[in-house]
Amino acid sequence: MIEIRVFSGTGNTLKCAEQMKGRLIELGEECALSLVESGEERLSVLPETLVVGYPIHGFNMPYNVMDFVKGLPSLKGTPQEKKVKVYFLKSSGEPLTINNNSSNAAAKILRKKGYSVLGEFHYVMPYNMIFRHKDEFAAKMYLAMKKRVYKDAEVILLGEEHFIKKTFGSLLASGICKIERPGMRFSGRFFKVDENKCVSCGKCEKSCPVGNIRVEDGKFRFGKKCIGCMRCSFLCPTDAFSIGLMNFMRVNKSYDFNADASKAEICSYCHDSYERYFRETEEY
Ligand SMILES: Cc1cc2nc3c(=O)[nH]c(=O)nc-3n(C[C@H](O)[C@H](O)[C@H](O)COP(=O)(O)O)c2cc1C
Repeated sequence: MIEIRVFSGTGNTLKCAEQMKGRLIELGEECALSLVESGEERLSVLPETLVVGYPIHGFNMPYNVMDFVKGLPSLKGTPQEKKVKVYFLKSSGEPLTINNNSSNAAAKILRKKGYSVLGEFHYVMPYNMIFRHKDEFAAKMYLAMKKRVYKDAEVILLGEEHFIKKTFGSLLASGICKIERPGMRFSGRFFKVDENKCVSCGKCEKSCPVGNIRVEDGKFRFGKKCIGCMRCSFLCPTDAFSIGLMNFMRVNKSYDFNADASKAEICSYCHDSYERYFRETEEY
């Protein structure tokens, strides 16, 4: 039995996880998928294989997912020690190797707890912050992800190792960007909603994974728990959000993954690494 637990701020990582689940089932494996939101979720039964899915935030795992990992039971000294296999499934906006160390801290915790960490899978999906990719390019990423998952699922099924090489840059970037947690808690308090644009749909308040948004007498209150997933501003139907200091990087509204991928042009930003990613995908 394979269990996928995934956090997805704006749907990209969930798409990857659902694709993985579908392929595993196609291969005849029993597979369940459920969401991590606050990070306080717990496993009711220990699976043979656990896949932890997350979007890369500041070259690291988001902190609600880290909290979920920390909450997993220790297997040390139990008959299950080293018997539960763990893989990470992650999505990020760019394919740079600087993202490669994002699972390391969680992998260390899980090894200490007696889990058998066997590696990770990295899928490039469109940015939900920084800048908006073109829909055609998003569709190309989506097709690449599907192609990779098709093979990666077999690796999981066979219980093979799939480690991604850490680079010095990735160690440095993930170390420095640990500041993101206190940073987001601070900057999340400065989110604002344009009352002239807001249609009071309540989507942001209801969907915040950590319950950081409250609306009282029509006024928005942002607490100190923001994890920076951008779900609130990304999903806002009227683009009424301002995300404080990061507003210049705001991306609003879902991508059209059914756009014509054959018309996609690789963006100039990180051009070579996207090109390498798609070339590797072709050879997958
Ligand atoms: C706060 C924040 C930080 C991010 N940091 C990175 C990063 O370090 N590297 C990267 O390639 N993408 C980064 N991204 C982009 C997301 O990882 C990417 O869009 C991902 O597919 C979003 O997945 P989701 O829809 O499941 O949340 C960041 C996004 C956010 C909101």
